Amino acid sequence: MIELLRNRRSIRKFTSKKITPEAIETIIEAALRAPSSRGRNPWEFILVDDPQILDKLSTSKQHGSEFLKNAPLAIAVCADSTKSDVWVEDCSIAAIVIQLTAVSLGLGSCWAQIRDRQHGSVLTAEGYIQELLALPEHIKVECVLGIGHPDEEKLPVPAEKLQRDKIRYNLWT
Ligand SMILES: Cc1cc2nc3c(=O)[nH]c(=O)nc-3n(C[C@H](O)[C@H](O)[C@H](O)COP(=O)(O)O)c2cc1C
Repeated sequence: MIELLRNRRSIRKFTSKKITPEAIETIIEAALRAPSSRGRNPWEFILVDDPQILDKLSTSKQHGSEFLKNAPLAIAVCADSTKSDVWVEDCSIAAIVIQLTAVSLGLGSCWAQIRDRQHGSVLTAEGYIQELLALPEHIKVECVLGIGHPDEEKLPVPAEKLQRDKIRYNLWT
């Protein structure tokens, strides 16, 4: 696990190589094994591999979702907010589980934040995706993950660059 964490970096450039059905199945299994508060599993995952929909997903926000255009796969991490008051946490955990599973399969990924972000001056990024993916109204969108074979190399953050001053023992001071 520590090796996975060392190697995980946000990958926003992908080759045109398809992700195998076996790898997609492993990612699905990992997502469905994510822990959730009270085991309520409020999440819903929409896998998108249609290039036209991926293209539209890439304009969900003015900045920060462009990389979805060339991803062979995107996963919208959504939730039924009526099932849990901590669906944001549940979705976030599922999303990182998916991202780490992607690394374990030799894939790269990046998170595009959707919740609390704008598509334009009026429409929210969430509203845009709700319409694009035909989501029922009670289904919220936390993020969209772009996943694919990396077409950029990113080195692990060196151990000496880790922010050790963020670690405290027992008391703040
Ligand atoms: C909650 C969250 C939201 C993020 N939103 C975006 C985003 O909208 N667009 C994007 O390109 N990257 C996004 N990222 C990726 C971060 O920019 C990235 O994780 C950070 O710069 C550290 O780089 P690394 O992942 O390579 O270690 C997000 C990451 C997290 C955890």
